[in-house]
Amino acid sequence: MSDQAGGQFSVAARHVAPRPPNKTGGSIEPRERARYTGPVSPQPFLISLRNSIVSATAVVGLQWGDEAKGKIVDLLTSEHDIVIRYQGGNNAGHTVKFDGETYKLSLMPAGVLHDHIVSVVATGASRKGEAIGTTMRGIGTCYREKAGRAHAVRIGDLLYPDLLRRRLQEIVAYKNQFLKTLDPSFQPFDADAIFAEYSAYTTLLTPYICDTTAFLHRALAAKKRLLFEGAQGSLLDLDHGTFPYVTSSSSSGCGIHSGSGVPERTISRMIGIVKAYTTRVGGGPFPTELNNEIGQHIRDVGHEYGTVTGRPRRCGWFDAVVAGYGARISGVDCLAVMLLDVLSGLDELKICETYEIDDERTTDFPSHVERLARVQPIYRTFPGWKSDISHIRRVADLPTNARRYVDTISELLHSRVEIISVGPDREQTILS
Ligand code: GDP
Ligand code: IMO
Ligand code: MG
Repeated sequence: MSDQAGGQFSVAARHVAPRPPNKTGGSIEPRERARYTGPVSPQPFLISLRNSIVSATAVVGLQWGDEAKGKIVDLLTSEHDIVIRYQGGNNAGHTVKFDGETYKLSLMPAGVLHDHIVSVVATGASRKGEAIGTTMRGIGTCYREKAGRAHAVRIGDLLYPDLLRRRLQEIVAYKNQFLKTLDPSFQPFDADAIFAEYSAYTTLLTPYICDTTAFLHRALAAKKRLLFEGAQGSLLDLDHGTFPYVTSSSSSGCGIHSGSGVPERTISRMIGIVKAYTTRVGGGPFPTELNNEIGQHIRDVGHEYGTVTGRPRRCGWFDAVVAGYGARISGVDCLAVMLLDVLSGLDELKICETYEIDDERTTDFPSHVERLARVQPIYRTFPGWKSDISHIRRVADLPTNARRYVDTISELLHSRVEIISVGPDREQTILS
């Protein structure tokens, strides 16, 4: 069964339990029905981030996911009222650290960790394996059923028990027949049992189910500050990523409008999140991949193992063609460069600034993976820095070589770097 948080009805919730709610993600503590609270004072260190009156901010990954979007969303919650997950499902794994605690979130937006935030799982999100190396969370099946329409159940259907029962009977009859054909020993599903199970969820979820599109439009009219939390990364976008090695949703900035019903022009600050290097989980070409001791060093120091599946992440040099493409399709206003501390201690660093494909040089990102697989990365090489930078809080205090490295990312992506992260904790952040 695929539960779509979709269409007219999705989920909005406000955390009321004393924080922290839970440390593992997944199940959530009781929350009350979404409603507005008074304005929240921003933390002083974030005030400088405001360049104007911001109505909506978006946080989008510009690589292949795991850029540390969760940390930035958490940082920005103090100057927002509502955090919205607009695509993806529990294939995402966002780790947030503060006050000595670690929180791992999958479907719920990072806003659930804060009392003053209303968290919205909007219509474009999915609630619920193959050669491309999926997270095996049923996300592809879920979006496929949504697009196919005939065999999908959406969250709003929980509010109509008779309709839900009828839908389940039709779907289960079809699926049983289908699966029996594939495997004669298959034990059929029982529609009544599934209905009974989901009726129990209905009791729990009903207070949180609402028309999230109308909710967000009312919030905008009431001048509430919205924060859109992207999952995955721009290069995993179904339409614009490295197809077929992608996820099933619009995981670049392109997905915000379709996933939430909030027009793109409402977003006055689109923050592109990049790691100071590149990682990728699962299959697909990866031009700057380091299958050597440097890649292993980055994996070890950066703890590059999947939050959801625990799989080792593939590691490589920063690829400005990848991130520049991500920045262009998502339309970023500024950048956050994350995990810079992980590169400390390396003798030299490389940034891929252009691709050579079939003897031609280009900074255009190849639209076909066959072409991407033939890329020869052309690198700019930098001297590294030896000292630990995880305690540094001002750009001016960073080693010259680290500043030069970040400046080059800014130059190649044609975008200002406003945040540099030097450790997983909320405090380990430099605003530039
Ligand atoms: P997301 O999916 O984009 O939210 O990213 P993940 O949470 O999956 O992966 C990022 C990982 O890096 C998490 O374990 C974070 O705690 C950690 N992290 C975030 N920022 C930094 C940083 O600046 N330095 C280091 N060393 N770790 C960081
Ligand atoms: P966050 O939000 C990194 C990858 C999977 C696989 C491909 C398709 O934590 O950045 P799927 O299960 O979505 O059908 O898998 O996409 N993938 C991610 N990689 N971070 C993620 O999310 C990812 N979500 C999916 O590894 O290659
Ligand atoms: Mg992640």
